[in-house]
Amino acid sequence: MEIKTYLDEQRQRVEKHLADLMLEPVGAFSRHIESMRYSLFVGGKRIRPILCLAAATAVDDDEKTYQRAMPVACSLECIHTYSLIHDDLPAMDDDDLRRGKPTNHTVFGEAAAILAGDGLLTFAFDLLSSQVSAGINDSVRIRIIQTIARAAGSLGMVGGQSLDMLFAGEQVGYEELRSIHRSKTGALITASVLSGALVARADEAQEEALQAYGDHIGLAFQIVDDLLDVEATTEQLGKPAGSDIKSDKVTYPSLFGMETSRTMAREAVQEALAALVLFDRKADPLRALANYIVERKK
Ligand code: IPE
Ligand code: IPE
Ligand code: MG
Ligand code: MG
Ligand code: MG
Repeated sequence: MEIKTYLDEQRQRVEKHLADLMLEPVGAFSRHIESMRYSLFVGGKRIRPILCLAAATAVDDDEKTYQRAMPVACSLECIHTYSLIHDDLPAMDDDDLRRGKPTNHTVFGEAAAILAGDGLLTFAFDLLSSQVSAGINDSVRIRIIQTIARAAGSLGMVGGQSLDMLFAGEQVGYEELRSIHRSKTGALITASVLSGALVARADEAQEEALQAYGDHIGLAFQIVDDLLDVEATTEQLGKPAGSDIKSDKVTYPSLFGMETSRTMAREAVQEALAALVLFDRKADPLRALANYIVERKK
């Protein structure tokens, strides 16, 4: 399958639904809503929503299932965008470019950027509780919400971000670094895959396989992000290259060098592909996404 065409088409479908679902910048809160929309609609690869949709398709390729997964997919992009706004703040990575545009806080100010993140995070759970309904029973819906909440929270992304900050400039071992990457980035990626699978009513074996797939590509995704921080340009990334070095972050390249890190990312993707053995051709988009994650240039 042609990955570029697939990604473009999926990205457009996600963006259309995001535009339909997102709050409009009218009324008393228009400036706040505008600041959320600025970061949400400024671009981005939309990998997490696409993974959610592809996982649903891997289990059940009925268009109805795909449509049911769409609000879940959109909620994941809201959470991810919030994490980027906060990640860029002066108190965190202090970066001024994101998705090819000035970061939220440089445009709207720090307080507004913090609140834009808060708003997007909260809105994601509004979507999950209000839009995810037709064809999904309450117990499945609660499991989806719980899966995403845990992945985004203190034992997942937020916890990982706290370790990322805590360990900047410190000597960190392999186990610790892997656990930072798994939590700050891997957790939400795994939840994206799992939540799509839950929408499609995956059985236990499928769930387990997709959890393993998500864990491996999640780790690979952050290793490649670290590699690109060193070897890509700011123009290519749409965010400042060299940000990790500037902030003295512990990364795969800083611990293992470029070559070994690249090999480790490729190995993680091979393990992700191996986890999909029990799936048929319906999982081809997930297979293509795994390869894309390690070969991507931005
Ligand atoms: C960047 O995520 C932050 C990480 C968790 C590594 P993406 O590379 O998915 O960023 P966008 O959404 O495409 O801008
Ligand atoms: C961020 O990791 C992970 C998040 C949860 C946002 P990075 O700090 O490396 O992400 P980028 O490189 O700024 O996108
Ligand atoms: Mg960071
Ligand atoms: Mg950053
Ligand atoms: Mg990075």
